[in-house]
Amino acid sequence: MKFFIDTANLADIKKAYQVGVLSGVTTNPSLVAKEGVKFEDRIEQILKEVPEVESVSAEVTPDAVTAEQMIAQAEELIKINNYDKNITIKLPMTLAGLEACRYLTKKGVKTNVTLIFTVNQALLAARAGATYVSPFLGRLDDISEDGVQLVTKIAEMFRTHNIESQIIAASVRHPDHVTRVAMAGAHIATIPFSVIEQIAKHPLTEQGLEKFAADWKKAVQ
Ligand code: E4P
Repeated sequence: MKFFIDTANLADIKKAYQVGVLSGVTTNPSLVAKEGVKFEDRIEQILKEVPEVESVSAEVTPDAVTAEQMIAQAEELIKINNYDKNITIKLPMTLAGLEACRYLTKKGVKTNVTLIFTVNQALLAARAGATYVSPFLGRLDDISEDGVQLVTKIAEMFRTHNIESQIIAASVRHPDHVTRVAMAGAHIATIPFSVIEQIAKHPLTEQGLEKFAADWKKAVQ
């Protein structure tokens, strides 16, 4: 399973990229709005910051409702990236979003269909040619459903039908989500930087480092 970072915050993106574990970035209108910056400018900055990742998801804005409106926005976003391959157009899981997905896929543009909450939605997105499908597990957990189970089922269904779309486990809230979606067969987990920090840590690692340092100090004294 690969790691994407789920943020529009440049400092967090830089930190994750520097660690060397980053394969991509996902953003959404809420994440960009939180930064208080112009959408296109921030996407351009992110693309420059992480030149070697496989994907930077830029989501069409909520005022793009029809497939035509989504495609028009996508064309502008693709230009920002000089038609390079890592920009990925993130589209909502609506019939219009699927129509835009099929169109963009045919043009060779990467797509990420977002806000997926059922196996059927994932199947539709895959059949529309989505490069990535994004089931939101945390938001399902929030309504007392099992988000990880959805990822497990989508992974099984994709294997059964030899579907090549990659599953991005999204709305990941904590380290246990990361472990469980990795075991469930997600291709990617998109996570905030705080979760990257959490999964890098273990109390025994810290204790071990303290002991090594103390023993070392004794030996050199
Ligand atoms: C994924 O692409 C979304 O940006 C994200 O994971 C949403 O997560 P949230 O439910 O924490 O807002």
